[in-house]
Amino acid sequence: MFKKKLTNKEKKVIEKIIRFIEKKHHKAEGHDYSHVLEVCKHSIEIGRKIKEEIDPFVLICGALMHDIGRINATTGEFHGIDGGSRAEEFLESLIEDPKTIRKITKIVVKHTPTSMIKPSSPEEKVVFDADALERLGFMGMIRGIMGKKGTMEDIIDDRINKRLKDYDKLFYKESKVQGKKLHQETLKIVQNLKTHLKLRTKDIRKIESYKMILEN
Ligand SMILES: [Fe+2]
Ligand SMILES: [Fe+2]
Repeated sequence: MFKKKLTNKEKKVIEKIIRFIEKKHHKAEGHDYSHVLEVCKHSIEIGRKIKEEIDPFVLICGALMHDIGRINATTGEFHGIDGGSRAEEFLESLIEDPKTIRKITKIVVKHTPTSMIKPSSPEEKVVFDADALERLGFMGMIRGIMGKKGTMEDIIDDRINKRLKDYDKLFYKESKVQGKKLHQETLKIVQNLKTHLKLRTKDIRKIESYKMILEN
């Protein structure tokens, strides 16, 4: 639940962050501005439903800034840790309280398993869950495949394995409720992908029309 409403000062800071994020994420491939907004939406929904107290300002700033480390990065391996530094530099120009800045940058650092640091505060866990939900469902699967290198089989296999684990790794039961439909959609897509992967031709000698030509 949210422990307070946003103050006017906080609303103004959020507006400035929105302008910054919209500009930076505008042309980003799989992590575009819509992805950031979807993560914000899920974060607010989960944040207001859980029992733990959530600071809405810290949560929204963290959700908005969470993927800033993805911009102009060649891989996602360090996007949480790099994003934390980027966020800190930017937020120092907007927020006076260093503790608040720290709380927000920690969300950015810990929102991704690639940072290998587990989320601990409620705000960190909520954004982690919200980002995981955004990887599920049709759009989540498409986003996950965008820009990936490798064979189609390897990419699809990798996505299937990762997506099937995402739902179980969510921190809050409220996140599971929020993402239930997306999870079911993911299971259907996975089933479909597996079926179609199996149907793909692997041997020219198994092609019926080819066999007919041979027989003639
Ligand atoms: Fe991320
Ligand atoms: Fe993200």
